[in-house]
Amino acid sequence: MSATELTSGPEGTEAAGAALAARLKAGDVVLVSGELGAGKTTFVRGALRSLGVTGPITSPTFVVGHLHEGRTGPLAHLDLYRLAGMGSEDPGLLDAFFADDTIAFVEWPEHALDAFPHARVAHRVQLAHAGGDERRIEIA
Ligand SMILES: Nc1ncnc2c1ncn2[C@@H]1O[C@H](COP(=O)(O)OP(=O)(O)OP(=O)(O)O)[C@@H](O)[C@H]1O
Ligand SMILES: [Mg+2]
Repeated sequence: MSATELTSGPEGTEAAGAALAARLKAGDVVLVSGELGAGKTTFVRGALRSLGVTGPITSPTFVVGHLHEGRTGPLAHLDLYRLAGMGSEDPGLLDAFFADDTIAFVEWPEHALDAFPHARVAHRVQLAHAGGDERRIEIA
């Protein structure tokens, strides 16, 4: 099943992230795609907040990922923008982010398709600019 929603500001995109978060279970991986500034981190922030993360939620652009502790267990937030595939990386590099009990959100998944466990992908989110502060969010 897939759903499309139009938001008119960051709050709406955070709310969409929270709504998806309510449907997730431990071990789920959520891919969050879209062009630069489309609102991927904003969407994930809404999801993480609703799952109990109270500290700062910043874009993990200069590290591969952040690990948070949520109400239901560990929550991972990755950004693969700077990872051009796992080719020369230590194969265990990302293991901590994809533990069995962890819900993981992955920005820029297409930059390193071999970096996450495909069998655990529960949802694919696509964000796009739709003029001004409007964003189109498609969730499959
Ligand atoms: N409807 C909207 N939904 C989400 N963000 C919006 C919206 N309208 C304006 N914005 C603004 O657009 C920016 C989106 O930034 P964000 O970091 O979430 O994008 P991103 O897709 O993660 O970017 P990057 O590709 O750099 O990781 C923020 O400054 C946010 O406040
Ligand atoms: Mg981002």
